[in-house]
Amino acid sequence: MRVALIGGTGFVGSYVVEELLSRGHSPTLLVRRGSEAKVRQAQRCRLVTGTLDDEAHVRETVSDADAVIYLVGILREDSRRGITFDALQRRGAERAIDIARESGVRRFALMSANGVHANGTPYQTTKWHAERHLESSGLAATVLRPSVVFGDPRGRTEFCTQLRDQMILPPLPAPLFFNGFSIHDAGRFLMSPVYVGNVARVLVAALEAEPAGSETHLLCGPEALEWREIIERIAGALGRRKLAIPAPAGPLRLAADLLGTRQWFPITRDQIDMLLEGNTGDSSEVFARFGIEPTPFDSANLAYLR
Ligand SMILES: NC(=O)c1ccc[n+]([C@@H]2O[C@H](COP(=O)([O-])OP(=O)(O)OC[C@H]3O[C@@H](n4cnc5c(N)ncnc54)[C@H](OP(=O)(O)O)[C@@H]3O)[C@@H](O)[C@H]2O)c1
Repeated sequence: MRVALIGGTGFVGSYVVEELLSRGHSPTLLVRRGSEAKVRQAQRCRLVTGTLDDEAHVRETVSDADAVIYLVGILREDSRRGITFDALQRRGAERAIDIARESGVRRFALMSANGVHANGTPYQTTKWHAERHLESSGLAATVLRPSVVFGDPRGRTEFCTQLRDQMILPPLPAPLFFNGFSIHDAGRFLMSPVYVGNVARVLVAALEAEPAGSETHLLCGPEALEWREIIERIAGALGRRKLAIPAPAGPLRLAADLLGTRQWFPITRDQIDMLLEGNTGDSSEVFARFGIEPTPFDSANLAYLR
């Protein structure tokens, strides 16, 4: 397949490009000026330099593609620079879907996220609207909804690396967040980290299979782990033990309200809310369908953190 990627220069995108190449497909990437060096195996890819809000650049990227993959996503806005959830995760995706359809592309894959819904955070609702637009487009549609994704970030942002740098290595106890006054719940919310290579494999396999209509795949790792266990496993992978103490989420939310728009502040209010919502699910069916043994969240597979 000739596959166009929008957002293919990121963490997940680098694995998707490798998976496409290893399966004999030909990737074309829309690349922002300055991000060219982030392209994995660039010499084997076609690059279109441009921005996703310029229709001509998107058109050039998807022209003659058999399938399009949309991976653009952000975790915080910078509205002064026009970087908003609505612009990138909703309107950008909808534009790419419309242009793909007009260009005669048949298959479209959208990277959404576990837990998206119509009345969630702006991160969640913009992805939810993009999903609805894709579903009604008439394209053979694949929606992936991953939990938190782990794996060697190759210089990009990844949640275990962030936890290592912000919570495990600093000489302070790690926070076990909880809502309200329910201290017994401290650090007990659940997540199912999924390996980035498994996500890339499902994405490419789903496009190869070409769904008849629209398919949504929840992508969660094989275990539902409490936050406190995630901290223990990351510390363990670094050969450490980490003291962790209950931390009420309220004061952190207040701090995030005041400072969350600053790029140096580690977390936004929405990220805190989404974290405490939990992020789990059962993906055994989709992994079995594509013959994938899900990669465990263990020391061997977290060795990249050392
Ligand atoms: N990583 C996870 O744990 C996780 C979990 C659930 C869902 N997802 C979703 O998976 C997708 C990929 O995530 P990722 O971790 O690979 O993210 P990433 O490493 O941050 O990559 C994001 C991609 O979006 C592009 N992008 C970011 N800001 C942009 C802007 N202002 N204009 C144009 N392009 C922009 C980046 O281009 P540049 O390289 O030029 O910056 C990059 O190609 C996202 O939709 C994310 O929401 C990720």
